[in-house]
Amino acid sequence: MKRIVVLVSGRGSNLAALLDAGIPAQFAAVISNRPGAGALALAASRKVPAITLDHATFSDRESFDAALAAEIDRHAPDIVLLAGFMRVLTGAFVNRYHGRLINIHPSLLPAFTGLDTHQRALAAGVKIHGCTVHFVTPALDHGPIIVQAAVAVRDDDDATTLAVRVLQQEHRIYPMAVRWLVEDRLQLTDDGRVHLRDAGAESRALVSPQGPM
Ligand code: GRF
Repeated sequence: MKRIVVLVSGRGSNLAALLDAGIPAQFAAVISNRPGAGALALAASRKVPAITLDHATFSDRESFDAALAAEIDRHAPDIVLLAGFMRVLTGAFVNRYHGRLINIHPSLLPAFTGLDTHQRALAAGVKIHGCTVHFVTPALDHGPIIVQAAVAVRDDDDATTLAVRVLQQEHRIYPMAVRWLVEDRLQLTDDGRVHLRDAGAESRALVSPQGPM
């Protein structure tokens, strides 16, 4: 059975969705760079080893990332997931886990990399927003896209209401992507695209706002 390590910093709602999804893999450890993160308590309550590695106790990014890699490798994971892990990772760290390090980002990449994605989507006036699961590469919030989910932006949305609907979709697509990876159904092409083996042939368009057809 494949082994998964999850890196977290916050409340852990994506972690909960992953743990609840019945993915046929073993969650070997949850590691937080922030002491007291809600995700740690959640992991412990599910009997998953919960480990704190406080980045503030390290003098620089390189030494933290080296210690983080050593801790991860102790659990011998096949897959490493970032689930609300709020740290920029060094190229050395990212390259060490090439092809098995995955992130969820709350926007339709490549739009709105970085922070405050919902506020920025509203400010840009987009009608469709969403979330993306992607392989991690050294460039922040780039990397081959595995799956995306879109939500319609409503006229009365603020960043909070929009975040709620995007988060619901995060909880759907992150476990989906991890299951595909566990099942060896993802193929990374030389030109940086991800193909899903045995995907349905369905093609549907999401148009927002809908208007008369
Ligand atoms: C999510 O919106 C995720 O996309 C982003 O950080 C948030 C983490 O939330 N990277 P949670 O800790 O999983 O509840």
